[in-house]
Amino acid sequence: MITEHNDERIVASHETPAEKEIENTLRPKKIQDYIGQEKVKTNLSIFIEAAKKRNESLEHILLYGNPGLGKTTLAHIIANEMGGSIRVTSGPAIEKSGDLAAILTNLKQGDVLFIDEIHRLNKNIEEILYPAMEDYALDIIIGKGPSARTLRLDLPRFTLIGATTKMSSLSSPLRDRFGATFQLDFYTDNELAHIIRRSAIILNTQLDEDASLLIATRCRKTPRIANRLLKRIRDYALVKSDGIITSDITKDALALMDIDELGLDATDRKILMSIISTFKGGPVGLGTLAAATAEEEETIEDVYEPYLLQLGFLERTPKGRKVTALAYQHLNLTPPTLI
Ligand SMILES: Nc1ncnc2c1ncn2[C@@H]1O[C@H](COP(=O)(O)OP(=O)(O)OP(=O)(O)O)[C@@H](O)[C@H]1O
Ligand SMILES: [Mg+2]
Repeated sequence: MITEHNDERIVASHETPAEKEIENTLRPKKIQDYIGQEKVKTNLSIFIEAAKKRNESLEHILLYGNPGLGKTTLAHIIANEMGGSIRVTSGPAIEKSGDLAAILTNLKQGDVLFIDEIHRLNKNIEEILYPAMEDYALDIIIGKGPSARTLRLDLPRFTLIGATTKMSSLSSPLRDRFGATFQLDFYTDNELAHIIRRSAIILNTQLDEDASLLIATRCRKTPRIANRLLKRIRDYALVKSDGIITSDITKDALALMDIDELGLDATDRKILMSIISTFKGGPVGLGTLAAATAEEEETIEDVYEPYLLQLGFLERTPKGRKVTALAYQHLNLTPPTLI
């Protein structure tokens, strides 16, 4: 089991298939259990309350934020609050226009259609969404060539919730059709400790308070990683001790996983070191950096970079990525300007 885990990068913020099931049990179902993101929750509650008072369906909502911050969770909670069902799909999963037409015509009034990774929707499919979002209509083309004509089908008043990690890849006509956009931020250590304690209760594991705070500082400010670390440390505690997660057990387990005080793992350090030693601290273009580190461009951009930027270890300049003095400090190195 341990080797199986080790194949996956522990701090990767995307969801692994094996994780889906356990993630569902840890996923809060009600807004009260959704920890943190206070501003989003307040605005969203008003948005939902107003729609309910007017007896209208909820306007379309765009959720934006790094992987693992709780977009999918929030979409389920919204559907729950509105009392409708949720239909879940994703941008890359909708391959043909017929796929989307089938989904749309099967929705009922008040249902939520959740499209994850909506920035990866195919352009032709995106165009079907425009009238669906705006006029609750589906335009179907019948026949071919000069005799082709369009037939307009009415759709029920549904709510589209789109989630994206990359706002800049979303076309502006699509962006404009959402009634509200909510951005999820990285979590504070206290919020994460709270999430970790909640998860430990669900997993039936005894966890010391200082251990929960320690895990909170090592999970890249991301709930998915917090839960993943908790599960790994829980295994470690069971094998090496009596199953209770203390801060000593946590420290040992984290050291074994090669995760440092800030939650950086070996690959993060490899990226920083590569910019420092091969490119004199940068700037270096994404493609060159990817080639030098043998990581994919997309992985660097979506998985590693957001947290390194958030820590202030990396800077994005028009010429490429640059390592900052803070990163040198963290790696116990002297920045070139000080030499
Ligand atoms: N606010 C929160 N409170 C408690 N747990 C949370 C919260 N947000 C996320 N989680 C936990 O983190 C896990 C990951 O969240 P979720 O799947 O919603 O992230 P996501 O933003 O949809 O990620 P992705 O971009 O990869 O789809 C959930 O299973 C849930 O257990
Ligand atoms: Mg998701």
